[in-house]
Formats: sequence, structure tokens, C-alpha cells
Amino acid sequence: MALKFISAEEAASLVKDNDNVGFSGFTHAGCPKVVPVEIARSAEEEHAKGNPFKIGIFTGASTGDSIDGALSRAHAVKFRTPYQTNKDMRAALNRGEFDFFDLHLSQLAQEIRYGFLGKINVAIIEACDVSEKGEIVPTTGVGITPTICRLADIVIVELNKKVPTKLRGIHDIYELQDPPKRREIPIFEVQNRIGLDYVKVNPDKIFVVETEKDGEGDGFAPIDEVTARIGNNVADFFVAEMKAGRIPAHFLPIQSGVGNIANAVLGSMGSNPYIPRFEIYTEVIQDAVIDMMQQGNVSFASGCSLTVSNEMLHKFYDDLPFFKNKLVLRPSEISNNPGVARRLGIIALNTAIEVDIFGSVNSTHVNGTQMMNGIGGSGDFTRNSYLSIFLTPSTAKNGAISCIVPKVTHEDHNEHSVKIVVSEYGVADLRGKGPRKRAEEIINKCAHPDYRPLLHEYLNLGVKGHIPQDLYACFAFHHALAETGSMMNTDFSKYQKP
Ligand code: COA
Repeated sequence: MALKFISAEEAASLVKDNDNVGFSGFTHAGCPKVVPVEIARSAEEEHAKGNPFKIGIFTGASTGDSIDGALSRAHAVKFRTPYQTNKDMRAALNRGEFDFFDLHLSQLAQEIRYGFLGKINVAIIEACDVSEKGEIVPTTGVGITPTICRLADIVIVELNKKVPTKLRGIHDIYELQDPPKRREIPIFEVQNRIGLDYVKVNPDKIFVVETEKDGEGDGFAPIDEVTARIGNNVADFFVAEMKAGRIPAHFLPIQSGVGNIANAVLGSMGSNPYIPRFEIYTEVIQDAVIDMMQQGNVSFASGCSLTVSNEMLHKFYDDLPFFKNKLVLRPSEISNNPGVARRLGIIALNTAIEVDIFGSVNSTHVNGTQMMNGIGGSGDFTRNSYLSIFLTPSTAKNGAISCIVPKVTHEDHNEHSVKIVVSEYGVADLRGKGPRKRAEEIINKCAHPDYRPLLHEYLNLGVKGHIPQDLYACFAFHHALAETGSMMNTDFSKYQKP
């Protein structure tokens, strides 16, 4: 049967008010860029006529501005899950304009299949190729594509001519069976392939929109002194662990989180002569990994997306034969699968907003109230890794905020899962330590020297019990920030009990 080619406007008209729409991709990589903008435009037209128009948005992770930015600016969002990084969407959700469900990324596809989140009406997928048999080849990000394509009534394919069709072969598409029929995922080594190199969809429900759009990825900020010092501290820690026999000589697969710090850490690992070639089993493959593969420092990378700058993307396309047998893109329920992470013995590297002296981590909510991005894949990996590491600068906002606090204002990862904390000042090793020893370790190794006296003062308030947490004073740092603009002005004497 011949494919049905339609315009972006016609495609947008297939999406109705109150629909749940699943989008392909993971971060800006692999996301559709034309149809969502048309949906936002038609939402604005409907609103101008006094008609309601809002949709639920389901994605692998964050998206490019054409989805989260355009649709939130058009006030066209009724529900969003599982993660976002867009400043307009962040502002709208923190205003309470719509419901945001912050979910571990590995869980979304199965929660949709279980029926926990309602029906997916339409799937909108970016592809570099689509056939009359219904074989869709995704572009640079996979996310929840296989599940939404199977479950949606309509699949709109944005066929992006800017992405070479020879990308086919880079994906490994595999969807899990649901309990009680689920079997083990047969990935025993990072490079194992277990599925198809395309997504199979009933061709009757496919509509194709031809597009020609560049990626929406920005480059990374240049590495500054703080991120470079964090990177070097991580690399030195790994070398010491290898010497102690706790990391094998051939190393273990690395998961590295999003952002500048994670990118810088990988760079430091690549330039350290004592760290051998290693593999990556992660969700987001960033610029540093592509460089390191070309330099021979990374032997294989498995991820869910190629979240790189446009410059790096063109470098990748130009050298595709080199990368084809060294890189694989999988759905998020596989790239982030807790069982696979545990089996492979992943070393997880993620970034914190704040860490408390007892080892709990806030990855998501500034001051416990304002959503930053979401938990993303950090929980999938942290809880299930061989070694879970959190990275943080010791301070934020020019020293007004200590990223090491008495108690986190929102807890995403707790003391039971967090093993190592690294700042530009050093490495706190929490393994095998009780609460008071963990606190001494984190204060002395990771806190900014200016904040150490205040943190010791908190620890010595005289509270008895297994965890010396003072329930009156534990948020004194945050109160001082709200009242005076700096945590440096914390005054614990205000909290003394009569
Ligand atoms: N209080 C208030 N603001 C803080 C803060 C704190 N304790 N710590 C950092 N910030 C601010 C920074 O000042 C910066 O603000 P700006 O954008 O106005 O400059 C912003 O938060 C981002 O911080 P930055 O140091 O640039 O870190 P980042 O870009 O690496 O992001 C997270 C850090 C935690 C937000 C990000 O890693 C994240 O979303 N993590 C959760 C998801 C995840 O881990 N995914 C990976 C799994 S594979």
C-alpha cells in the first residue's frame, strides 16, 4: 500500500483537543520539529475563537523547543511526562498551568502499556526513512517510540531529509513483554544487539510529512575551572579504585548524566593516561563521547540518543561507517533498564542540585518547590549501579548557595543508594559509613571551605539518635537564603529550643 503524504498543517489537524500525543526522541535528539509547531499554531487559533485546545505530551525525555517550548507558549499543554528542560515549559509548570508527572525514564513505556496513564491517541515520530511495509527508521533519539507507535491510532512520520538514510543499522529496537510474560533482557555485554534496526508499524495508520530541519542542539559551555577540577577528581578517584582492585583493570561501563559537568568528566577520563579504554552504557551520548571514540578512548557506546551539537552531528554523519559498529541507540526502557544496569556493573555519574551531609541528593526541585528538569534517568542508574557517584560544584550563584546543606529540601536519591559525592574540592566516599562519619566526610571533602564551619556547627547542635538531624534547624540554610539572599548568613542560634 502506498504511503500517505500530507502537509504539516493537515497532520496537525489530525490532533484533537484533549488528545494524548506521544513524540519520538530523547532530549532534542530525534524529536519532530514541524508538526508540533503547527499544533501549537492551531491551538492558538482555537483559543482565539474561544475554543479549548490542550494535549497531553508523552516523550522519552526532554525535547527540543519545537515541542515543549512551542506548545507551552501556546498554552496547549494539559499534561506532561516524564521530563523537561525547556525554560518556558518549566515556568508554566511551576505556575501550576498543567500537571507534570516526574517519572523515572525507564518506566514510562511500561506505564503507558499498563494503562496507568490513559490512551495514546497520536504518535508523532521523526524518521530518516519509512517504507510502504511500515518500517520506520528513527533519527538520533529513540525514547518511547516503539510503544507509542504500536499503541497510537495514528502515526505521523516527520521524514527529515537532513538526516541520512544510511543511519539505518544504528538502532536496536526491542520492546519488553509485560508481566507475567516478561523474560530477561538478553544484554550481557554493552555491545549486544537484541532487536530490529527499525520500528515496525501497521502501514495503514501512517501519515508522512516531509521536512528538512537541522537539529536543535546547542553546544556545551567551555570547561571552566570548577568543572575541570570535578572532572580531574573523578578521574583520580577511578585510578585509585583500580589500584585498590575495586574497579577491574579492563574497567566497567560508564553511565554519564546530562550537562556540562558530565561532559567535562568524560573529557578528564579520556585525557588520564591511567584510565584504560572503556565502554559507555548510558541514556544520552554527548559530544565528549564522539571525540573519545575517534581518539580510541571509548570502545563502544550504547545509549538512547545522540545528544550532540550540530557541528558534532555532521562530524558523526561524515564518519558513519566508523561509528556503525561502535554505537547503538536503544529505546529508553532498555538503555535505562535497572536490571541491565545492575548486571553490567555500571558506574553511574549524575549531577545534583544539592546534597545533604548525610548523603541524600536533590536532583529536581530548587528550594523543594521549583521544578528544575525532573529526575530523568538518574534514579534508574543510581539505585542499580555498581558505583553511584554524584557530582556537584560546592556552591551555586556566586557562593550565595552552598550545594552541601544540612538537609535536602527534596529527596530524589537517598543515603542507601548514593555511594560517592564529588565536588571541585574532593571526593567523599560514603561506602560503609554511618550517618555521622558520612557527614564529616562530605563536609571535609566536598563543602566549600567557607561553609564548613556552619555545617560542622549544625552537626554539633547536640541532637541525639542515629541521624543527628535537627528538625527545627535543618532548613536554616534555606531560610537564610530566602531572608537575606545568602546561606552564609545562617544563624543557628535562632533555632535553639527554649
Ligand atoms: N540551588 C539553587 N540553584 C541551583 C543549585 C542550588 N543548590 N545548584 C545549581 N543551581 C542552579 C545553577 O546556578 C544553574 O542556574 P542557571 O541556569 O540560572 O545558571 C542551574 O541550577 C543548573 O545548574 P548547573 O550547575 O549548570 O548544572 P547542570 O546544568 O549540570 O544541571 C541538574 C544540574 C541537577 C539540574 C541536572 O543534572 C538535572 O536535571 N539532573 C536530573 C536528571 C538527571 O540526572 N539526568 C541524567 C540521568 S542519565
